Amino acid sequence: MTDQVPATTTPLLEVEDLAVEFTTPDGVVRAVDGLSYSVTPGRTMAIVGESGSGKSVSSLAVMGLLQMPPARIVRGSIRFKGEDLLGLGPARHRAVCGEHVAMVFQDALASLNPVHTVGWQLTEALRARRGLSRRDAGKQAVELLDLVQVPHATQRVKEYPHQFSGGMRQRVMIAMALALDPEVLIADEPTTALDVTVQAQIMRLLGEIQAERQMGLVLITHDMGVVANVADDVTVMYAGRAVEQASVFDVYAAPAHPYTRALLRSIPRLDQKGGGLAVIPGRPPDPTSVPDGCPFHPRCERAEDICRVDPPPPSIPLPYDRTAACHFAEEVMNDARG
Ligand SMILES: Nc1ncnc2c1ncn2[C@@H]1O[C@H](COP(=O)(O)OP(=O)(O)O)[C@@H](O)[C@H]1O
Ligand code: SF4
Ligand SMILES: [Mg+2]
Repeated sequence: MTDQVPATTTPLLEVEDLAVEFTTPDGVVRAVDGLSYSVTPGRTMAIVGESGSGKSVSSLAVMGLLQMPPARIVRGSIRFKGEDLLGLGPARHRAVCGEHVAMVFQDALASLNPVHTVGWQLTEALRARRGLSRRDAGKQAVELLDLVQVPHATQRVKEYPHQFSGGMRQRVMIAMALALDPEVLIADEPTTALDVTVQAQIMRLLGEIQAERQMGLVLITHDMGVVANVADDVTVMYAGRAVEQASVFDVYAAPAHPYTRALLRSIPRLDQKGGGLAVIPGRPPDPTSVPDGCPFHPRCERAEDICRVDPPPPSIPLPYDRTAACHFAEEVMNDARG
C-alpha cells in the first residue's frame, strides 16, 4: 500500500466495459459483464467476490489466455500503457503481456514443472527473459528466492517443487513471476490454500515488493480481510459485474452496496471469539440464469420491489470518486456512516 503515489498517475493497465461469455450446453454463461478498472504504478487494486463471480476469467482475458472458443470477448477494451491489446490479435496480445504483465495462479503445484528443480526453472526464465549467462541467472535465482524469503535459498534452488510446503511453493511462484520483471502483477488468489498466518506473511511480502518495484498489482481474493492490509483500491464483483468500486479507506468506512456490506460482515475478526461470523445467506446465481432486476436481489436484505424488476445502473457515481451499482447506493452509504 502506497499512499504517496497519487491515483492520477497514468494507468499501466486499463480494462473498460469488458464482457466475456461462454457458450455451454446449458446456455450462455455471462462470466464477465461490463467490468472496468485501472491500475497505476505502485498501487494495488483488489478484485473481491465470491467464487464464480468472474475474477479469474477477467484476468485470463487481460493476459490473453482465455481459450476461445468456448470463451468469447463480446465487448470492451484492455489497454496496456494506452495500447489496445484486443486490437493486436491473440498472439501479439500474449506477447505484450508476456513481456510486461505477469500472473501468479492459485495452484502453484500445477503451475510449476515437477520434473525440474526450482533453480532450473528460475534460471531458464531469467536466461530467456534477460539474456543472462547460466552463471549469472543461477546467482539471480538464489537472490529471487531470498527476496521472497525462502530460507536457505542456496540449498533450496536444488530441490524440486514437491519438496516445498504449500506456502513456500507460493513464494517460488511469486519469484518466478518477478523473474520476468513485470510492470503489472496479477495475483489470482495466491494464498487461498494456505493457513491464515502464512497468507498474511505472503500478502505483506507481495505488498513490500510491489511498493519497492513500483509495480501495479491486481490482487484477486474472495477475502475482504486481505484487502484491508494490502490494497489501495477495491473492485467488488458479483455475477460478472463490478458492483462497487472505491478506495479501500472509503469502502471500509462506509460500503455503498449491500453486497459489500455483507462481505465486510463476513470477515473473521480475531477479537470475536467463536461464532458471530455472519455469512451471506443464499448462493451466487446460476450463471446461465441470472435473476431479472438486480442480480443480488434474492439475497439482499435491503431489496425493494423495484430491485426485482429494474437492474440498477452499472456504476452510479458517488462522492469521492467512487461508484456502486445499487438503486439505493447513496442511502446505503449514508446509513453505514450512521
Ligand atoms: N471454460 C468455461 N466454460 C464455461 N463456463 C466457465 C468456464 N470457465 C469459467 N466459467 C464460468 O464463468 C464464471 C466465472 O468464473 P471464474 O472467473 O473462474 O470465477 P472466480 O474466479 O470469480 O471464482 C463461473 O460461472 C464459471 O462457471
Ligand atoms: S439494487 Fe436493490 S437488490 Fe440490488 S443491491 Fe441495491 S438494494 Fe439490494
Ligand atoms: Mg478464480
